[in-house]
Amino acid sequence: MRRLDFYHLLAKAVNKCFGKKLYAAVRADFTYAKDNLLTKNSAPFLRDQFFLRAYSEGKKTDKDRFLKGVDIEWRIHTLCWAADYAKQLDGDFVECGTRTGFFAKSIIEYLGAEAFAKRFVLIDSFQGVIPEFLSDNEKLRESKGVKSDDIWSKIYNQVKEQFSSHDRVEVYKGVIPEVLENIEFGQISFLSLDLNNAYAERKALDYIWPYLQLGGIIVLDDYGYPGFEEQQKMHDEFARSHNTSVLCLPTCQGIIIKTE
Ligand SMILES: C[S@@+](CC[C@H](N)C(=O)[O-])C[C@H]1O[C@@H](n2cnc3c(N)ncnc32)[C@H](O)[C@@H]1O
Repeated sequence: MRRLDFYHLLAKAVNKCFGKKLYAAVRADFTYAKDNLLTKNSAPFLRDQFFLRAYSEGKKTDKDRFLKGVDIEWRIHTLCWAADYAKQLDGDFVECGTRTGFFAKSIIEYLGAEAFAKRFVLIDSFQGVIPEFLSDNEKLRESKGVKSDDIWSKIYNQVKEQFSSHDRVEVYKGVIPEVLENIEFGQISFLSLDLNNAYAERKALDYIWPYLQLGGIIVLDDYGYPGFEEQQKMHDEFARSHNTSVLCLPTCQGIIIKTE
């Protein structure tokens, strides 16, 4: 009997006997098994060389290994898809929570860096989360990844340098919500929201919503991530208050489309 057949039979037996509590599977059958996502469903973007190149350019920005080497292709696929959809609408792209620009760089490369014509507003404190804005749970969670001022200053300089050849990419250093008042917004068609903090994200959503085009799209990075439940609750309340709801993706992201 081939080795793989043996493992399949073993998995079948385990599932039959212990299936209510356990799920055994053979690694080779998964199309994706990282970033908390395990699936056998098809993931064609993993064979798309254009996407993979954009992803790799984004990943290169993670110089301080924030993601500790974990790949997040499926999340980046969602963002690239949403940006590709939004580029057909009038309005700018905005990101609240840019860090080293992994998401933004991947999106720009995916849409074609040479021809990238959208205004893309990138906003970050470049000092991490703001302690006064955090709940006790968030404080505990975020206390693990604190970076020195020196590292943040390097990240800020890296991001400015990274996007300096794109006239329409603007990098803003400042704390959300205050910094939003200093930015001139026009219509917005795409918002990537990734602040790891329910309070600041709610403020950003309230501020940006009136600028969001009908059909405009919001990608919530932390919607379903374990330990980020306060954000999920707030995202749901926000969406409900605007007569819509959040599409929950297995990547942990959430999607809101403005329909009225
Ligand atoms: C998870 S990281 C974002 C990762 C990023 N989307 C990427 O492409 O790699 C969260 C970022 O939010 C920023 N941040 C958190 N709270 C903020 C606030 N109130 N105002 C501005 N930036 C904030 C942090 O400095 C951090 O860079």
